[in-house]
Amino acid sequence: MQENIVSAPELAEQGKQKIEWVKRNMPILQQIDDDFREQQYFRGLRVLVCIHLEAKTAYLAQVFASGGAEVAVTGSNPHSTKDDIVAALAADGLHVYARYGATQKEMRQYMNWALDLRPNIVIDDGGDLAELLQTERQELIPEVWGACEETTTGVLRAKARAKAGALDFPVVLINDARCKYLFDNYHGTGQSVWDGVMRTTNLVISGKTIVIIGYGWCGKGCAERAKGLGANVIICEIDPIKAADALMHGLRVMPMSEASLIGDIFLTATGCKRVIRKEHYERMKDGAILCNAGHFKIEFDLQELADLSVEQKEMRKNITGFRLADGRWLNLLGEGDLVNIACADGHPAEIMDTSFALQALSGRYVVQNHGQLNKDVHRVPDEIDEEIARLKLKGSGVSIDELLPEQEKYLVSWKDV
Ligand SMILES: NC(=O)c1ccc[n+]([C@@H]2O[C@H](COP(=O)([O-])OP(=O)(O)OC[C@H]3O[C@@H](n4cnc5c(N)ncnc54)[C@H](O)[C@@H]3O)[C@@H](O)[C@H]2O)c1
Repeated sequence: MQENIVSAPELAEQGKQKIEWVKRNMPILQQIDDDFREQQYFRGLRVLVCIHLEAKTAYLAQVFASGGAEVAVTGSNPHSTKDDIVAALAADGLHVYARYGATQKEMRQYMNWALDLRPNIVIDDGGDLAELLQTERQELIPEVWGACEETTTGVLRAKARAKAGALDFPVVLINDARCKYLFDNYHGTGQSVWDGVMRTTNLVISGKTIVIIGYGWCGKGCAERAKGLGANVIICEIDPIKAADALMHGLRVMPMSEASLIGDIFLTATGCKRVIRKEHYERMKDGAILCNAGHFKIEFDLQELADLSVEQKEMRKNITGFRLADGRWLNLLGEGDLVNIACADGHPAEIMDTSFALQALSGRYVVQNHGQLNKDVHRVPDEIDEEIARLKLKGSGVSIDELLPEQEKYLVSWKDV
């Protein structure tokens, strides 16, 4: 294996402290960690983790290592990698290849080095690693037992491949589990996006007009929190049902051509490309803030923004100002990468506890069903989803009711009314 890429080894202690903090706040993963250590489900296996490389991800990687796996880790976005965490993982004996601000070329190199592990299990986020594996590193495919895909965008890519009969290994769709999107996309993005915007701009949210493009799980969570912070929220959508839902939640709905004239802050959360482009930049107010919550930085046409501008400068850390010919400044946060990760620390630990519990148990599911899962997309089994919800409730000291036998019977009967 290639030697680790660690740009700041002196930060290992700081990284360890951060991992220790999240671990204390991830009780579900802790229980899984104990079980994996005891049962050694991954003994003799190799696991590759390619997720935004911050403290919570580091703990997930360590959990696979507890389960007996040899683990390699790389980041899924150059601006979400935390160098202190990389240093801590390397000190802990894992293979790790990542650095904050890596170029696209370096990112690809790091993924290739991580792939040299010859993974049996791939834990992916956005599908870049799976794509590399299925195009340039096909020689590794016979050893891949399966992948688990974290996010909406990666799930769409896996489904597209499966539909075309071009998926080379089974992929478990973490994002489509209820314990994922109900907590992570909705509550996690809802909170951490505004954390990123607030700490980066140090500006007030209340009273601002915030335009959210995409009212899916992420957009909806962001809209609810923005409303709670006192903002006037406008939704732009292409799906009439989502748009009607936003309306019923008391939000204004309009096309981007109108919203672009009045927004103070624009947040994209669609997973689609070029939802904000030249015709919108041309209408925006001076000082407008642009940020993205979608997986890739394709939601803004950044080339058109650069082409329109006559000057670019760093206004503040993580804020790039673009001066247009008529003197207006538009401010882009985190270079258009996911604002909650590039400009903050990502989702809260308790949120990633459920998402990563799904990753860990789905990884175990792939191992336990090796040879039985076909080269297709697979739902996370309901038993895993429900087990995680039960562990979450237990960790919160909450118990719930159970159906009486007669109720159980009633609910599946058509006669007994
Ligand atoms: N920032 C994070 O931490 C984080 C967390 C989870 C998911 N994500 C990413 O965020 C993106 C959205 O995820 P989601 O789970 O909310 O997806 P979703 O499918 O639930 O919602 C996306 C919404 O965008 C709308 N949309 C699509 N194209 C549009 C366009 N051109 N204009 C207006 N609206 C459009 C769709 O109709 C849909 O309602 C994905 O890229 C996903 O990978 C980010």
